[in-house]
Amino acid sequence: MSDPMTRRRFLENTSLIALASTCAPVFAQTVPRSAFGAQSTAEEVTAGLDLSGKTAVVTGCNSGLGYETMRVLALRGAHVIGTARSVEKGREAADSVVGDVTPVVLELTDFDSIVACADRIQAMDVPIDMLILNAGILLGELQQVRGLEMQFVVNHLGHFILGNRLMSRVVDAPEGRVVTLGSIAHMRVPEGGIQFDNLGGEGWTRGSYGHSKLANGLYSLELSRRLAGTSATSNCVHPGGVRTNILRNLDRGGLAGLLNKSPEQGAATQCYVATHPSLTGVTGQYFADCNPAEQSEYQTDEAMAARLWEVSEELTRDYLL
Ligand SMILES: NC(=O)c1ccc[n+]([C@@H]2O[C@H](COP(=O)([O-])OP(=O)(O)OC[C@H]3O[C@@H](n4cnc5c(N)ncnc54)[C@H](OP(=O)(O)O)[C@@H]3O)[C@@H](O)[C@H]2O)c1
Repeated sequence: MSDPMTRRRFLENTSLIALASTCAPVFAQTVPRSAFGAQSTAEEVTAGLDLSGKTAVVTGCNSGLGYETMRVLALRGAHVIGTARSVEKGREAADSVVGDVTPVVLELTDFDSIVACADRIQAMDVPIDMLILNAGILLGELQQVRGLEMQFVVNHLGHFILGNRLMSRVVDAPEGRVVTLGSIAHMRVPEGGIQFDNLGGEGWTRGSYGHSKLANGLYSLELSRRLAGTSATSNCVHPGGVRTNILRNLDRGGLAGLLNKSPEQGAATQCYVATHPSLTGVTGQYFADCNPAEQSEYQTDEAMAARLWEVSEELTRDYLL
């Protein structure tokens, strides 16, 4: 932010977003249906696309859906900035695919790491055509970071900081797209939705992972409202039940039977929403199997989305631009 050009561009964009946010609800829009479905792969949904000259940021590029997304976007010619929690993991992932991948370290529980990651990406001085907020965890037991439930921090709050610090670059792109990984699990949450008065997670009887995924969905919705008036869009996706490492922190294997997609199939929806020409201008939507999907009333609650944004700002104020 010390570079005056960067600062000016950010301020211009911030005022644009602020202006838009005062007057622009997300209008009902017709979302095109695609011929793709649950079996489609990320390679299939991007077939024929030339992404050369475009830049994608993919968080969690060393495993599962993030890895496949990085691989396929790079295969189609994009420069992919892929984040991983260590230099070694990022380098190993980047070196294992064909194309132009730059690994960057990002640890979402460490807010200084998020700032450092965003600063490195800002220093590349390129518009971000695709910002894919993909990294995530699923926990079986309550864990906390900064006194907050850990999945809420990793899956939502960390990405909230990263998004804040990179959004000027997304708005700089001709058609910047933010794609946030939500989940059908957003339907299984504590009573009332986001637990604004108890974000530490104590006493939640169910749905702590779903709570964080609801936060992802609400973030995406509110971001789409704040981006109105720019050419950038924000959408949320459920990838399906996918055989990745997502269950690594659970000691029971029972859920594994629900994961019926391969990573190649699982990454299709986020790659489709990030790249497909038919979705130009489509924003504030929720997709699964490469098509608009049903969501809970909580996830379409604009007041809850706006409140979550404000509370997230309060919780991360020292790390925001
Ligand atoms: N798989 C499914 O069935 C499914 C269903 C619905 C939604 N999702 C969502 O899809 C996204 C990708 O998950 P996946 O299935 O690909 O799982 P995965 O294979 O476990 O990959 C998760 C990625 O997130 C990274 N990550 C975890 N904790 C992090 C932290 N504190 N800081 C930075 N990065 C961190 C991991 O890094 P490390 O490898 O270093 O831990 C890894 O790169 C998640 O948001 C998940 O909630 C998955």
